[in-house]
Amino acid sequence: MGEVVELELELIRTDLDTQMRVQTDMEVASRYAELMRDGIEFDPITVIYDGRYILADGFTRVAAARMNGDDCILADVTPGTYRDAWLLALQANAKHAQPRTNADRRKAVTTALRDYDLSRKTNVEIARICGVTEGLVRKIKKEIGFGAEPVAVAVAAEVAAPKESPFDSIVVSDEAIVEYGVEWGHAADVLSRMESESVSLVVTSPPYPGQLGNGMSVSQWFAFMRPVVAQVARVLRWDGVFALNVMFKRNGGMIDPMLFDIPKLGYWAGLSLWELYAWDKMNPVPAGDMARCEIPGWEPVFAFVKGRDYRFSPLLGEYNHKSLNKLESGNSERGDDRYSGGHSRQNGLGARGTNVIRASNSGGEARLRAKGQSFPPELVERFVLQHTAAGNLVVDPFCGAGTTLAVAARHGRSWYGCDVDMDEVVKARRSVAHASANRKMDR
Ligand SMILES: C[S@@+](CC[C@H](N)C(=O)[O-])C[C@H]1O[C@@H](n2cnc3c(N)ncnc32)[C@H](O)[C@@H]1O
Repeated sequence: MGEVVELELELIRTDLDTQMRVQTDMEVASRYAELMRDGIEFDPITVIYDGRYILADGFTRVAAARMNGDDCILADVTPGTYRDAWLLALQANAKHAQPRTNADRRKAVTTALRDYDLSRKTNVEIARICGVTEGLVRKIKKEIGFGAEPVAVAVAAEVAAPKESPFDSIVVSDEAIVEYGVEWGHAADVLSRMESESVSLVVTSPPYPGQLGNGMSVSQWFAFMRPVVAQVARVLRWDGVFALNVMFKRNGGMIDPMLFDIPKLGYWAGLSLWELYAWDKMNPVPAGDMARCEIPGWEPVFAFVKGRDYRFSPLLGEYNHKSLNKLESGNSERGDDRYSGGHSRQNGLGARGTNVIRASNSGGEARLRAKGQSFPPELVERFVLQHTAAGNLVVDPFCGAGTTLAVAARHGRSWYGCDVDMDEVVKARRSVAHASANRKMDR
């Protein structure tokens, strides 16, 4: 029980996926609205406060009060996390006067089964949490084929006519058997089961603080990432690279200074920041009524390494010989293989690409996207081609729709990934299956 207060309706967040009914019944809401107008008192709604007032229980009452044009509603407010609100919401409707439909009950159970942690509880426990019978949990599990590899079966059937099963090992060279897999699990757990010094490249984009209503503050994000980065550091090979793409929301219009603590996150785990890349998004989302500076047109990618001997085979472009000729002697000679002094290595092969990776994530080929956002394949491609050879293992522990894994598969690398969201696991398996079928062995 928290504190019961008159809470402004405007502050209440009903848009954060905590509505566990299939939909708010607007007929019931208008009946409630009428009773409210007649002065009938309703129980307080249940709200969890994590900096936002997240509605856990009382969607119909809030809809009714909004219909009446009220400013406030009686609310029981308890401090907590987004997950507290989500779990409360899952249980809330079970105790209601307004009966749930069968579809509502099903939604509660399927939502719980898609949660990695809840799904591992016993049927009795899941039934208690969702306020349904144990028999219903068993029935739904059976219907959706919950259990041994249900997704692999469903996916294999869905993938567009692959020549071979995408889930068989793929031989890319005489000695290298590709490792593959997309697990349903927590990043740190899955990484902790991988062999030390086995991974050549990790390219990943974890959930951002506050993304999709995850309720994570920036400092919670650092706490969340520490065990993951520690595991990444352990599984990386001596010549491996870890490319981490993340952006923090603006703080009062300014860049959050904690963005610059990300290198420390790596140092803490024994990794050094080798490079910084900027992903030039080309198509930043429209600003709407937000200040322009709230919508960054770029995101950083922090590239960490274990030591100085990281593998780096840069993608080279043509030198611009015309402008090279205008440079002082010494500099211009670098383009012709004649230069061997100074801080630059002799390199007549071409120019290394800039650290700005221009890639739109809305255009291009049709592909599966993660719920939050998927980064573009071009971004991953840069790291895969720069830092791995055919057969090397590429990992994404927050794989979403599988962009990293698909790029690795397309270029004949081994791949492994995981995600806590079953929907994303399914998408990732489909993405890599498609990419494996379109593999090219380039470099
Ligand atoms: C920004 S998305 C990644 C998108 C991905 N790069 C792509 O291109 O599709 C972050 C993903 O991390 C997943 N996630 C959140 N917490 C996780 C955890 N503890 N372990 C593994 N995955 C997690 C989310 O479900 C989400 O799919």
